[in-house]
Amino acid sequence: MKLIFATHNHNKAKEIQSLVPVGIQVLTLDDIECFDEIPETSSTLEGNANQKMQFIIDHYNVNCFADDTGLEIEALNGEPGVYSARYAGEMKDPNQNMELALSKLNGVEDRSARFRTVIALFWQGGKYQFEGIVNGKITLSKSGKDGFGYDPIFEPENCGKTFAEMNLSEKNLVSHRARAFAKMIEFLNQQK
Ligand code: IMP
Repeated sequence: MKLIFATHNHNKAKEIQSLVPVGIQVLTLDDIECFDEIPETSSTLEGNANQKMQFIIDHYNVNCFADDTGLEIEALNGEPGVYSARYAGEMKDPNQNMELALSKLNGVEDRSARFRTVIALFWQGGKYQFEGIVNGKITLSKSGKDGFGYDPIFEPENCGKTFAEMNLSEKNLVSHRARAFAKMIEFLNQQK
């Protein structure tokens, strides 16, 4: 059975393929010859995940899922949230995004933050939603070389180091994305 992942990123799809139940084939947008940039115009993670899922349903009417992630900083009322990728502008530059977050938190005592991933799944005619959260804090400066995005300034709770100081398997033990996907995979396993 085919399951379309609303992404053009083959590596993301490969990662999920190794986790879903046997018999489910995870395909990317490119695999189904959808070369569009699917609009993400909602002001919430839930809205964007749903929007991407609905695009696939409307155009292809097949089993599919979409994800959206944001960094939510407590003292900044949940910023950058849904705007995480382009916080400092349309160049989507991770360093500028981190600098902006650090400067806004200059002198702020409460540095608590969380990453949140939302997945919208369309499976056998039903629509489902899964959420994964990791709580932590924004560090005072960048630390670590691995990962991407805000990894060098995000320290998950009880870890004592940033995401960028972890290898992928360490990060996957606690990450927002891994937690959201684990929930979807548990759901798919129960459907068999
Ligand atoms: P996306 O929805 O997975 O494309 O994530 C949106 C943006 O959130 C990314 O461009 C990154 O800036 C940020 N982000 C998402 N996941 C992570 C992560 O695991 N580490 C650091 N930044 C992330």
